[in-house]
Amino acid sequence: MTYRIATVGGDGIGPEVVDEGCKVLDRLEELEGFGTERVDFDLGGRRYLATGEALDDGTLEELRGFDAIYLGAVGTPDVPPGVLERGMLLKLRFAFDQYVNLRPVKLYPGVTSPIAGLTPERCDFVVIRENTESVYAGAGGALYPGTSSEVATQESVNTYHGVERALRYAFELAERRDGRLTLVHKTNVLTYAGSLWMRTFEALGEAEFPEVTRDYVHVDAACLYFVTQPERFDVVVTENLFGDIITDLGAAVQGGLGLAASGNLDPSRRAPSMFEPVHGSAPDIAGSGTADPVAAVLCLGQMLTFLGEEAAAARVDRAVGALLDERAGRVPDGVGYSTADVGDRLVELVADA
Ligand code: IPM
Ligand code: MN
Repeated sequence: MTYRIATVGGDGIGPEVVDEGCKVLDRLEELEGFGTERVDFDLGGRRYLATGEALDDGTLEELRGFDAIYLGAVGTPDVPPGVLERGMLLKLRFAFDQYVNLRPVKLYPGVTSPIAGLTPERCDFVVIRENTESVYAGAGGALYPGTSSEVATQESVNTYHGVERALRYAFELAERRDGRLTLVHKTNVLTYAGSLWMRTFEALGEAEFPEVTRDYVHVDAACLYFVTQPERFDVVVTENLFGDIITDLGAAVQGGLGLAASGNLDPSRRAPSMFEPVHGSAPDIAGSGTADPVAAVLCLGQMLTFLGEEAAAARVDRAVGALLDERAGRVPDGVGYSTADVGDRLVELVADA
């Protein structure tokens, strides 16, 4: 099987970590006997400053023909906030209907969580964040801007179609994992959207996934439990904005943004899904050769799982686990390793695994 992969290094440390991911991918192809055809796209802040466009429609349509997009990071200090977020990242999510954001929260052995005494056995869950609706839909507006009468509205759009498909993906994932699904919302205050989510959750679970245990937690309490009882969770499903916020908390719990992977999925496979480390472009360390490529490699694992290359994905997971264990105790993680060292070591470890 040969997959068409669009690589988008982007800005800052993005290209550096994607390069390491591609080295690991080269080795996995030899080991597992699949192939990729990779095409590199120049997108991001630098490109925006040069052309005035974050993502033109021609490029968008070209990307549509790929099986997956492997993204490093976008953002440079001289591009105003929102330009690349709305103009590129969200544009891709919406255009390709990447309606699931998959965010694992897994504490690997050898990684120190900021939660004292937390062990890997107690922290291994996945957040399914609805990725196309809620306030991210962009509904709202401003009246009398810049005056003392200014009115700003920002509406949360929730459709049965959007809610049902996110819940369905989460139930199916829970079925393949430990069989426990937790809905996170704020049904006690957001009564309209909360009711839609809750009713759909109950009805779908009862009708089609009776063997999955259902639980519900308010989003504020979920923050508490992420920290105090992460073992409570197997699969968590939530709406877009809550999902954005709690997944950064999840990243902290599992040892930091350097280990956080994000998959923006179109499970229908009509358009490419996109895989990106959560850490961003880190312009302060760009070019220094010290960026940690582990999150980018974890994204590679997510991409391989999504493409159906399970054996290669399992190699990535075991190799990352072994690497993190090897460098355990070095604080902060990764000190003493260059970006390329980590990539090279992972190339070796995927073969052992
Ligand atoms: C994420 C990011 C994005 C989001 C930003 C960069 C638009 O925080 O993927 O979690 O808010 O979804
Ligand atoms: Mn976020």
